[in-house]
Formats: sequence, structure tokens, C-alpha cells
Amino acid sequence: MPELAYRLSLIKTSPIRRIAALLDQARRKRDIISFGGGAPSLPPPKEFLDEIMRLLKEMPQRACGYCGTRGLPELRSLIAEDLKKYFGVSYDPGKEIIITDGGTEGIFLTLFSILDKGDEVIILDPTYLGYSEAIKLAQGRVITLPVSVENGYQPDPEMLKERITGRTKAFILLSPDNPTGRIIREDFVKTLVDLAIDKDFWIIYDAAYKHIVYEGKNVWVDSFPGAREKTITINTFSKEASIPGLRLGYTTGPSEVIEAMEKIKQYVTLAPDTLGQYALLKFYENGVKDRYLREVVLPTYRRRRDLMASLIQKYLPEAKTVVPGGAFYFFVDIRYYLEKMNRDDEEFCNRLLYRKNVVAIPGSHFGSMGKGHIRLTFVSEPEERIEEGMRRIGAFMFSYVF
Ligand SMILES: Cc1ncc(COP(=O)(O)O)c(C=O)c1O
Repeated sequence: MPELAYRLSLIKTSPIRRIAALLDQARRKRDIISFGGGAPSLPPPKEFLDEIMRLLKEMPQRACGYCGTRGLPELRSLIAEDLKKYFGVSYDPGKEIIITDGGTEGIFLTLFSILDKGDEVIILDPTYLGYSEAIKLAQGRVITLPVSVENGYQPDPEMLKERITGRTKAFILLSPDNPTGRIIREDFVKTLVDLAIDKDFWIIYDAAYKHIVYEGKNVWVDSFPGAREKTITINTFSKEASIPGLRLGYTTGPSEVIEAMEKIKQYVTLAPDTLGQYALLKFYENGVKDRYLREVVLPTYRRRRDLMASLIQKYLPEAKTVVPGGAFYFFVDIRYYLEKMNRDDEEFCNRLLYRKNVVAIPGSHFGSMGKGHIRLTFVSEPEERIEEGMRRIGAFMFSYVF
């Protein structure tokens, strides 16, 4: 066989995808409770689903045809209105918005649009694991900024300043955060924006969880003075519309960046999914989105979050965590238990799955600061199964530690 590309040796396979595949196989055989992947278990809004059925029946050719590379203009217009309503910022739907195949493609196209070989991108440690390998594929260098449970997973502005060099090209901000659920402090964003202006680098703001906020106020980076021409914002419908399998999202940014992304997208996926985009028009009409978030998504996840918080206290009293203000993850420091068990977080999660049929994600997958932690999501299982899963984790610890 002829050789494969060298660049493959620079990146690792996504551990979460590996776990998802394992889970898929295992689930067919036994009852597994998943605190693993971040895919919403709620059905999408009924209006959206009804519209898909109607589109397929009444206009199958249009619904299954190609659209332009930037996506449907009518959807981009609705997105611009929605962003104005929620965040008070105006975007030109013709120039400053591109529809992407999920946030993942938004991240990929952004990095390939802005990075040259050796450019540095600062990310937090721990952070979402979709960034580091994509940065490396785009020939960039990953620079990490550690955060920990002791400071509520908030980054330190002074440590950020120390990491900025002549090669700094971008900083990736994620809020609400995955894996920690923390909402970024406004004063950090203010410092970040000032630095981006002063040192001339991009802020890539991953707003995947912008609507999944339980307490407090999340930031919208573009609303800070001077931020607009430095900021590229990644959005996804996977979380807020519960349609991760349809692969739809959008990115906003200065027109030059959106143009660059379009140029690359032409050769990657050509155009986004047309059927899902037409159905999303209904998501934005007649208050469907607001109602779905207010009456279904937020109350369901808030109940699950509160339950999981109390169960972590009950079954893992020596663990340290921060109750997430948004998103749908607890990042739990279980070093106390791991020391007594003489195991690391990866071995712990393997054994937990093998012995108790519960999936948790090893914290070290999210960066070296994640060692000794586990990520537990409350998005995939209903309350009674969260209760059962946490009881199993408690029993598993007890059998080892005492
Ligand atoms: C922070 C963050 N960004 C981006 C994504 C990508 O999501 P998608 O490609 O489904 O839009 C995810 C998915 O879990 C995420 O957690």
C-alpha cells in the first residue's frame, strides 16, 4: 500500500469518538448508563420535525438539493435577527454569517482560514478536545493556559499575558465551558479583548452552549467595544435545537474571514445540509425556539443538574467540583479516591464501565490538568437513570476505598 500522509502522525484519534463507538457496541449487549458523550437526549421541537416531514412530501427535490456554500440566505437572515434579539449585536447576513456542518466544521474552517505554519493558538487546559488536533492539522502550535477547580476553572489574566508572543494568532474562548460548565468572568473577557486589540490576534469564541445557561449571565464577546473585528464566533444547532446528527451550525465574523471560510468549504463539504436548513426556518418562527428553550431544554437540564449535584455530594463527598452555571457537564476532581484505589482516571473509567456499566470520561482526555478528574454529563439520561448511575459509582468507590 502507498504511504499515508505524514500529517496523520501529528494528531490522535478523538477519544470521545472511540468511546462512542465502544458504547454503541456495548449497549446492544447490556444496560449501560451513559454519563459520557454530550449528545442531547431530548427530541427536537415538534414544529421542526413536522416541517421535515412536510418538506419531504411536498418539495422533495428542493429539500434534497444543493444550496449555496454559505447556506440559505433566508436562514442567515433569521439568525441575524435572532442574534440581535438575544445579544443586541447586528450582523450582515449576506457577509458576516456562514452556515456550517456543525460547530466542528466552523472550528476547522476558522483555523484553516487564519493559521500559517507555526502560528500559536492559546487554549485552556482542560478544554474541549476538538481544538488541539484541529490546530495541529492546520500546522499551528498549541499553547495551554491551565485552570483548576480551586479557582472555579476561571483563567488568570496574568497567566494569559505571559503566554502571548509575537506568534500568537488566536485565543479560543469557550463559555459556558466543556468540560467544566463554568461561565467566563466578564473582567477576563474585557482583558482578553483589550489584549487582542493591542497585540492583534483573533478571539475564536465557541458559543456552542450560549443558550444553555442556568444562572448568571453569559458573555457575548462581540458586544465588547472593539471586539467585532477580532472575533469569530462558532455556533451550533446540535445543543440548542437537539439535532446533533443533522450536522448544522453557523459562524459569524468579519466579512473577510467568512469569505475565506467559504472558499475552503467549497472544497470540503461544498454546501451545508439543505433539508435541515429549511426546517430550521420553523425553529426561528412564531417563538418556537424561545418556547423550546424556556419550557423544555432549560427546565429539564436544570433538574438533572441539581439532582446530579446532590448525588455527587452524597456518593462522592470527598470529590471537588463546581456546580456548572451552563452547558451540561460536571468536571469532578476525584484524586482523593484515585489515590486510595491506586488508579488513574483512565483506569478508573475503564473499570467503572466493565464492573458497573456506567460510562464516565477520563479527565485527562481534556488536557494534562484534567488528570485525576472525570467528566460526567447529565444530558443523556433521565433523572431515574442519573440516580441509578450515581448510586453505582458510589458503590464502586465504596468497594475499593473502604
Ligand atoms: C464546545 C464544543 N464545541 C463544538 C462542539 C461541536 O459540536 P457540533 O459539531 O455537533 O456542532 C461541541 C460538541 O460537543 C462542543 O462541546
